[in-house]
Amino acid sequence: MGFVTQNRIMKDIHQEKIIILDFGSQYTQLIARRVREEHVYCEIVPYNHCLTDSDREHLKGIILSGGPSSVYQDEAPLCDASIFDMGVPVLGICYGMQATSRLLGGEVAQAEKREFGRAMLTIDDNKSLFDGIDSAQLEVWMSHGDRIEALPKGFKTIAHTSDSPYAAIADETGRIFGLQFHPEVDHTKRGAEILQNFLYKVCGCSPSWTMASFAQFAIDKARLEAGDGKILCGLSGGVDSSVAAMLLHKAVGERLTCLFINNGLLRKNEAEDVIKMYRDQFYLNVVYVDASERFLTKLAGVVDPEEKRKIIGGEFIAVFDEESKKLGEFEFLAQGTLYPDVIESVSVRGPSATIKSHHNVGGLPKDMRFKLIEPLRELFKDEVRALGKELGLSDEIVWRHPFPGPGLAVRILGEITEERLNILREADHIFISKLKETGVYHDVWQAFAVLLPVKTVGVMGDERSYENVVALRSVTSRDGMTADWGQIPYDLLADVSNKIINEVRGINRVVYDISSKPPSTIEWE
Ligand code: XMP
Repeated sequence: MGFVTQNRIMKDIHQEKIIILDFGSQYTQLIARRVREEHVYCEIVPYNHCLTDSDREHLKGIILSGGPSSVYQDEAPLCDASIFDMGVPVLGICYGMQATSRLLGGEVAQAEKREFGRAMLTIDDNKSLFDGIDSAQLEVWMSHGDRIEALPKGFKTIAHTSDSPYAAIADETGRIFGLQFHPEVDHTKRGAEILQNFLYKVCGCSPSWTMASFAQFAIDKARLEAGDGKILCGLSGGVDSSVAAMLLHKAVGERLTCLFINNGLLRKNEAEDVIKMYRDQFYLNVVYVDASERFLTKLAGVVDPEEKRKIIGGEFIAVFDEESKKLGEFEFLAQGTLYPDVIESVSVRGPSATIKSHHNVGGLPKDMRFKLIEPLRELFKDEVRALGKELGLSDEIVWRHPFPGPGLAVRILGEITEERLNILREADHIFISKLKETGVYHDVWQAFAVLLPVKTVGVMGDERSYENVVALRSVTSRDGMTADWGQIPYDLLADVSNKIINEVRGINRVVYDISSKPPSTIEWE
């Protein structure tokens, strides 16, 4: 396929684009996901990114995100004012609205009364952004300490709240807008319609970004990128690597080899089930390596969670390297990198502290002898799932709970032994099977059992027992960054607890974790 053809494909799929300038808001990615849910392609760039010719190609509109700063401070992050002269509509959200106002000559100051959380919005002009939203009052979500005191010339207010006379503003050409509230969050009623109005009515976008069109585009693109080369793909059984492998299989067929390494820290029957599925249902060429002994030997006697992670990460790279060499020459290594890993993060508040080293572990070093091929790097997790469905993957894979790279090692507190692994595997299997049986599995983001390093007294029959405690955890979450404990039915918990204590030798007590993240984390280690 020649270059011209490649360009044609690129145009087909990215023929309309929204650019989001990121001022460091915790909601920036949410804005992007909301835009894509409307089937409009968008990209996030840092607020000070200078828009290139390629950024401007197919550009239909610009959104300025919120951010933690104050525009009236000296070092306030501001974008280049030329974005207002690019001939495309601009929507500023929260800080983005204040930046718009300041750049265009308005006045912003600290509000006397800060507005956080719920506010009632009165719409003054229900054309364009508020078209079709006829409620007199709308519940919206605010989070700001500053507010606009004087509008830039040529602007008018289109909605207000009791504390913000300029809660939504528009310029007289109807191309530049500002919203003091966050239309992207669930708590803002009819926020989706406001964004739809901006995308379809103001910017003139069409809902053309679909997974069916992306799938074909991504397959063609990968085929082109790979040329005659052979691709090696590490499979973990998780949704990202499975979708990447399926896509590449469709692109290059037999020239894809998948490598599945069993590190001895997998769940009950996991390796067998996953391999069987990949081979029998999807006809992937999967090489299975059982490196359990090697990992468990290295982990013997280790109790510190970070040390466990380092050992597992290091060993994984070593095994991968050795085994891949045995398989011959590969030009490419496939990785399931997603869009959130690619976005250049705006660090307005400074780098955040490392809580767990997990994002560096389980991955492969960049300086290996392969070129990287990353077919999912434009996608958010929910889009990867949709793509998986499009490519024919089963719900079982597509809706699988995330499982950490170091596996059960971070769910066995204290020393990892074969015996403790088996105890945990059995308990976890009972819990997960019950969740699946009752349909609760899909209501939660993640669920699992944790083996604690304490023993407690119990009574079984007439005999005293002194055995292990297992903790069950289930959480609801949107992206794993924050989470709430899962409020699953008591009856279900009672059944699971009974079954575990009756059937799993070595456990005489089951507890349920009711901590949210923050301040706790999802995994215990
Ligand atoms: P935490 O425990 O940090 O977990 O709240 C957030 C999400 O990340 C997963 N997790 C890991 N994933 N390697 C991984 O690949 C790790 O070391 C690791 N630790 C946590 C966790 O399961 C949850 O989905």
